[in-house]
Amino acid sequence: MSSLFDFDALPDRYAVMGNPIAHSKSPQIHSAFAHQTDQRMEYTAIQVDPGGLKQAVGNFQANGGKGLNITVPFKQDAWQLVDKRSTDAEQAGAVNTIALQADGKLYGDNTDGIGLVRDITINNNTTITGKRILLMGAGGAARGVIRPLLAEQPARLVIVNRTADKATNLAAMFQPISDKSPNQKHCADIIEGCGYADLKGQQFDLIINATAASLNGELPPLADGLPTNSACCYDMMYGDKPTVFLEWAQQQGAALCVDGLGMLVEQAAASFELWRGIRPDSQAVIKQLRAR
Ligand code: ATR
Repeated sequence: MSSLFDFDALPDRYAVMGNPIAHSKSPQIHSAFAHQTDQRMEYTAIQVDPGGLKQAVGNFQANGGKGLNITVPFKQDAWQLVDKRSTDAEQAGAVNTIALQADGKLYGDNTDGIGLVRDITINNNTTITGKRILLMGAGGAARGVIRPLLAEQPARLVIVNRTADKATNLAAMFQPISDKSPNQKHCADIIEGCGYADLKGQQFDLIINATAASLNGELPPLADGLPTNSACCYDMMYGDKPTVFLEWAQQQGAALCVDGLGMLVEQAAASFELWRGIRPDSQAVIKQLRAR
């Protein structure tokens, strides 16, 4: 690992791989972290062709690369590719962070869930423990955050999906955790999957949108009255304007409506910490990005 004052050494190389990748904020975020913490490193964005992740990672490694972020649509490919996975990555079925080790082995982690949890609990000062959570969506984005959410010990975690079967199956995948971990013994009772129509009459303290609906400006079929007055509604997407889900949440009177920019920065901070062993000041970078 080179430090800022190691003038002869080349900077350590990091990158994000995805497709498309041109608009990724990751290079900006990691450059800000490196600047804050005096780390001599470069971080670039690499566009990878479909089916080309293995070769791209191999090339990056051959050129002395130290670490990678992996984004859409390669997180599942990365899960297959790595030699060893963290428990979060294992359960998520996806890898968003790779550490290229000195022995040539690839270590895969998934920092999306911890990024979400930190943004909710620390940056937005909202407790998850004991709360009723509604998680919308049953694709890769939803699966990636379930384990870290359960680790906060909510009262309930309901996964809701347009295709209800996918939500039920996803919930079932996380039930065995309760048999293995005494701390999460209650999980089998608290996690369940259903369709939107099944939610009628229920209320939640935290509603998280992990569907791809906001990308297309669509709103899942949510019944009125789902958020409590003190609820936090969180969209894992972000943009210049509030998403349709956050507009809906505001109309429903939710106390706190949050987009996914903070999660993006927090998952990057967790990757940075894995690679460099230093925790950057993520809140300062969230502020910088919001100011732009
Ligand atoms: P990702 O990796 O981003 O999660 P994905 O695996 O394709 O992408 O999953 C997309 C999720 O968004 C799914 O849960 C999908 O619901 P279905 O399984 O029923 O397809 C959900 N989704 C996408 N558009 C939606 C919409 N307009 N309303 C509700 N759910 C939607």
